[in-house]
Amino acid sequence: MQNKTFSTLFIGQNLIQLSAVDSTNNYLKLMVSKSEPLADGTVIMADDQFAGRGQLGNTWISKAGLNLTFSIYLRPTFINIASQFQLNVAVSVGLVNALKGFVDHGISIKWPNDIYFNNRKIGGVLIENTLASGNLKNSIIGIGINVNQQEFDDSILKKVSSLSKILHADVDLKDLLEKVCHCIEVQYMKLKSGKFEELLAFYLSNLYQYNKLSPYKADNRIFQGEIKGVSDEGKLLVEFEGRQHRYGLKEIEFLDNN
Ligand code: BTN
Repeated sequence: MQNKTFSTLFIGQNLIQLSAVDSTNNYLKLMVSKSEPLADGTVIMADDQFAGRGQLGNTWISKAGLNLTFSIYLRPTFINIASQFQLNVAVSVGLVNALKGFVDHGISIKWPNDIYFNNRKIGGVLIENTLASGNLKNSIIGIGINVNQQEFDDSILKKVSSLSKILHADVDLKDLLEKVCHCIEVQYMKLKSGKFEELLAFYLSNLYQYNKLSPYKADNRIFQGEIKGVSDEGKLLVEFEGRQHRYGLKEIEFLDNN
């Protein structure tokens, strides 16, 4: 374990670096469950995360020492359960801002909070919340970013990329982590001060396939639709056949757009 101070207000001020762990989200969850209070903004990062978890029960595979796999602990007690998607928006906007500092064009948010470079995934977010009295209590924000990995399994090769593949140069992991923590902190503070509409406008203007006719699959049908927004509870609003339909995470599939 090692500590280094970031130029942030609180996210990453308590930074714990592990050489290997199953999942930084699991590790943080265990820390939160212990009786000693944990500092808001604590970050756990792992050089080797060997059983990373993704959304919808998927696994997150990352080669040891080459990428960022980390989790941020926040106490967003100001967010009502019904508005918990707002946290996803703040985190996605922060991540996109940080990555745009490295890559000029092509970075976007694929609903709900994947990070894309053109048509390829370069990052993912898994947020796990606990609730109390109608509001969020603890939030574990797990983030994986493909940074210096050049080789990927054949099964995902055409669907993913990494910063080093895009930039043709390696990126310093700690430097990137600090920038991501800073950018997420900025958006989180905006959310806390009631500026969600501003965050949402940025989220939508950086949303993959927003207002663009694209192929989707839902309810056993393949159709061309246009993303028109997200609902308060975070559902995707897609227009086709002259009306708007709303979908949860398991209910719609983005089809290949290449
Ligand atoms: C997804 O795209 O499905 C979300 C991937 C989230 C991966 C990160 S890596 C750090 C943290 N620990 C985990 O086990 N998962 C998240």
